Amino acid sequence: MKKDAIGDPLSRVDGRLKVTGGAKYSGEYKVSGLAYGVLVPATITSGTLTSIDTKAAERAPGVLAVITPFNAPKVPGYQPDAPKPFKGLKLFNDNEVYFNGHPIALVVAETFEKATHAASLVKAAYQQRPFETDFHKNRDKAVTPQGGKYKDYLRGQANAYKNAPVQLEQEYLQPSEMHNPMELHVTTAFWDGDDQVTLYTKSQGVIGSQKAIAAAFNLDPAKVQINSRFVGGAFGSSLRTWPHEVAAAQAAKMLKRPVRITLTREQMFTLVGYRPLTIQKIGLGATEDGKLVGITHESISQTAVYEEFTENSVNVSRFLYQSPNANTLYKVVPLNVGVPAPMRGPGEATGAFALESALDELSYLLHMDPIELRLKNYADHDQEQNLPWSSKYLKECYSKGAERIGWSKRQPTPGTNRDGDWQVGYGIGCGAFGAYRGRALAKIKLMADGTVNIQSAASDIGPGTATAMVLIAADTLGLPAAQITFELGNSSFPVAPTQGGSSTVSSVGSAVHDVCIALKQKFNLMAGRPQDNTGDIDYVNILKQQNLPMLEVTQESQSGADAKKYSMYSFSAHFVQVYVHALTGAVKIKKVVAVVDAGKIVNHKTASSQMIGGAVGGIGMAMTEEAVFDDRFGRYVNGNFADYHVPVNADIPQIEAIFIDERDPIINPVGTKGIGEISLIGVAPAIANAVYNATGKRIRELPITPDKLI
Ligand code: MOS
Repeated sequence: MKKDAIGDPLSRVDGRLKVTGGAKYSGEYKVSGLAYGVLVPATITSGTLTSIDTKAAERAPGVLAVITPFNAPKVPGYQPDAPKPFKGLKLFNDNEVYFNGHPIALVVAETFEKATHAASLVKAAYQQRPFETDFHKNRDKAVTPQGGKYKDYLRGQANAYKNAPVQLEQEYLQPSEMHNPMELHVTTAFWDGDDQVTLYTKSQGVIGSQKAIAAAFNLDPAKVQINSRFVGGAFGSSLRTWPHEVAAAQAAKMLKRPVRITLTREQMFTLVGYRPLTIQKIGLGATEDGKLVGITHESISQTAVYEEFTENSVNVSRFLYQSPNANTLYKVVPLNVGVPAPMRGPGEATGAFALESALDELSYLLHMDPIELRLKNYADHDQEQNLPWSSKYLKECYSKGAERIGWSKRQPTPGTNRDGDWQVGYGIGCGAFGAYRGRALAKIKLMADGTVNIQSAASDIGPGTATAMVLIAADTLGLPAAQITFELGNSSFPVAPTQGGSSTVSSVGSAVHDVCIALKQKFNLMAGRPQDNTGDIDYVNILKQQNLPMLEVTQESQSGADAKKYSMYSFSAHFVQVYVHALTGAVKIKKVVAVVDAGKIVNHKTASSQMIGGAVGGIGMAMTEEAVFDDRFGRYVNGNFADYHVPVNADIPQIEAIFIDERDPIINPVGTKGIGEISLIGVAPAIANAVYNATGKRIRELPITPDKLI
């Protein structure tokens, strides 16, 4: 059997670096003459900064500068990624305060501690304005997004559920949730002259960061170097360039010294996005035998007053199930809060909580098994786009998952399955996420000794990108993985898309596949064989015969025209078994089985890890995570890791990932569809549905804390 083939459980190629401390993160690079910047947050929630007293801070030991709107030179093209008609957050470019924690100054000092101390000495005076942070109070002020990306949707009749023989209308709430990657956001910036800047920064896309920094400072992108080789988790919080990254570059320019800004954990709650609080109404109508006749999905989310954020929370209801009638509405409520951002399974994770909970509720109204209800309404093509699926194996996900979780032991009547003081329940929740493929380039070098190096400006926020790329290259070239290295996270490498939307393996993996094919063709021609000869290639000898020290090829890769004729999604079905303590309401998640149709799986080991990570995120969403606001002051009361609860090891049961592992024939040459998002989408409703099955209590407001169950 072929060694190092696509699908093999190859251990992480950078695993040793990561566990030995050899992997360097953005805050760990030694830069000579480094100064440390600490942001000073506004203590009001809305208003204008009228004056700022920096004297004490400037006199404090080790302080180099205190940068404020009153002394900072304007950043010429600030925040290029704020959508029109919003201005975005322009630190130090004006005196406005839009939310509590909005940075009003940056203290730069010789050490982080000295900067932190001096930051506490900055005194600001404000003209306060009334502010609004209470979503529920302002719900009626929801507006249709103005940014232009979102469109309401109607198929057939609107609100057709209201005329159906069996009807369900319910509202679901999901609170604000924070990405909280373990690694804080850090940026280290230094200039070479006035027109060349280098950043070490936590980024999901070095090319995107390069463009944003170049636009902010009116630079040629070629003069902006972004490095982000290792990232300690991001989950969407580093998809864009944030104000503190621009501030680090701005301070370094002013001081003519390298400057590093590290956000505090508390600042991670206000300055780098979050999953927005969302209220959703689902209307489902069905015939007596369980055929859906109408789906209505309406969603209202929070956003910031200075920038609009939208996501696809309602879109999943347009295509996941067959229904002649479907309509969706989506609105946002601008508040004096930091702007939200995509967070793992952005939109769909929120939407699936509502839709998959509602479908479960409908199954009980119909006295029908929830899997049977899903089968009855299985969508054999995409009704929204009116296109065939490129591939879809969701039925197989249902059956495999049902078997592994022990679905046959599920009691159809809630609250009837007991094990001592514990009530036992089973739940299912499904997910879908668009399978995207972007344009990507890769450069390959095959050396005289047979070793291979591939470069692409891809990112790795944790899933093991380099490992997957090495495996694709090993398989395509017919060489051992140990001979191949893959380098990423550097903006000078060939262009690759941002690591987001579960698209890296599809986009960059295709570029790696294609560049390997291009290399093989060259070798075949040099050896006097037809270029597409599929036989083994003796790379080392061919180079020797040609008297070449190495061979280098760069290849661009993107979707063909055929891609537009298909609807492409990854699908998942999550199964959960829970025990709920009848007296205390404590929930023990006993087992999670996640079954995924994500096309061909490149590396079963890292893919399983990614699925487990997503399920843990879903458990957090279902059980513990909630950013709590005090609307009197407009501040989070739990902006730290002690009070904002993410699941810990003891909360996590056995999680099993099962892959259908059928290649998608359309999307890309390897046949992969992506798993990053669907690993989380559908987990929270699976848990809520299992809790209902165990107890008969339907929890429509996350998180499912014990007080809601007793
Ligand atoms: Mo993902 S929310 O696209 O990082």
